Amino acid sequence: MNLYAQSSQKILVAYYSHSGNTKVVAEQIQNATEADIFEIVPVVAYPTDYQTVVDQAKEEINKNYHPALKSKIENIDQYDVIFVGSPNWWSTVAPPVATFLAENDLSGKTIVPFITHEGSRMGRSEDDIKKLCPNSTVLKGLPIRGGSVKNAQADVNKWLKEIGVLN
Ligand SMILES: Cc1cc2nc3c(=O)[nH]c(=O)nc-3n(C[C@H](O)[C@H](O)[C@H](O)COP(=O)(O)O)c2cc1C
Repeated sequence: MNLYAQSSQKILVAYYSHSGNTKVVAEQIQNATEADIFEIVPVVAYPTDYQTVVDQAKEEINKNYHPALKSKIENIDQYDVIFVGSPNWWSTVAPPVATFLAENDLSGKTIVPFITHEGSRMGRSEDDIKKLCPNSTVLKGLPIRGGSVKNAQADVNKWLKEIGVLN
């Protein structure tokens, strides 16, 4: 049973995924909530070589760079609850997610972060999300280790119950 669906709250799952882990969790949330899903895609894709992307990400995050996105979500106004997913990059959200949060007016909406990582869990992503959406309510996020995403549906469902999205 879906509380938010019952009370006609409309849910969006928006995520960026560089190597596929965050996409898996995004689909698990969609699966449990029947939400709409939106992949955040930068105009210029990040390199696949690990060290190259790590260096580029460090520089972009230090400069607070917001890369342009390929497409904009239509009618963001219709959503009450927006799950925002990102890999943990240097303890924060990936720059395309920062762009998404900055370029959409999310005032009055409930933002629910989820992060995949390799040890740093949420890092400072919740605080950084709050700074990018000062007029939104940011709920407790879910960190999932990248290597464990395929078996995460039960943890996802448990968390959705904890935060009151599922009953
Ligand atoms: C540029 C970059 C920076 C990263 N920084 C961190 C970090 O600071 N802490 C951490 O635990 N994992 C870090 N990781 C690992 C990713 O968060 C992890 O592999 C994640 O699951 C990848 O998600 P994705 O497959 O959706 O892109 C980093 C990975 C990349 C590519």
